[in-house]
Amino acid sequence: MLVTCASAKGGVGKTTSAVHIAALLAQNDRTILIDGDPNHSALKWAKRGELPFQVVDLMAASRHTRNYEHIVFDTPARPKQDDLEALVEGCDLLIIPTTPDILSIDATLETVDMLNALKCDRYRILLTIIPPSRKTGEQAREALADLPLFERSIRQYAAYEKAALAGVIVNQVKDRNARIAWRDFEALGKELLP
Ligand SMILES: Nc1ncnc2c1ncn2[C@@H]1O[C@H](COP(=O)(O)OP(=O)(O)OP(=O)(O)O)[C@@H](O)[C@H]1O
Ligand SMILES: [Mg+2]
Repeated sequence: MLVTCASAKGGVGKTTSAVHIAALLAQNDRTILIDGDPNHSALKWAKRGELPFQVVDLMAASRHTRNYEHIVFDTPARPKQDDLEALVEGCDLLIIPTTPDILSIDATLETVDMLNALKCDRYRILLTIIPPSRKTGEQAREALADLPLFERSIRQYAAYEKAALAGVIVNQVKDRNARIAWRDFEALGKELLP
């Protein structure tokens, strides 16, 4: 499976989602993460510690991606229309991480319009960085109600920042919510590979 994380807004959890989705897929199958963002956030994450899968730069991807069952592709924010078209063309599933604020939701709705224009239905929206107040998550879900949304949202936990800093997956950090945070991704994994 080739999964791409993309979003029209920056800082919505693309890299965090890509890293944790790759970790999920790597539990059972050979999985590689391609870092397509010139900021190299995923590569830097990997270099700071140890991830249970390989991370490679997009420029080096062609040689590395042989022999992997799953490829997760992290991309820079705000793809242009033709970049989005190429991303769609190149993946089995486009995941659009979206935070529950109006700017992110609007950006996702615009992306969905672009995807509809491309006649692409191989996408799903992942609500991320959901704060503890239940209302916020529910309102975001309502705003996106008719669209393909993952049932599970990724809640907001400081453990993710610690994981990025330590170069590990969230369940590896010393934080009382580390395991709870990882459970969101485990549940997401069941939706991804039922
Ligand atoms: N579920 C979460 N809970 C708390 N913080 C989170 C969560 N997911 C991501 N973050 C934090 O939010 C910030 C942005 O996340 P991330 O880098 O994954 O987003 P991005 O969409 O890849 O950003 P960019 O557009 O810059 O590439 C980071 O500081 C990250 O640690
Ligand atoms: Mg990123």
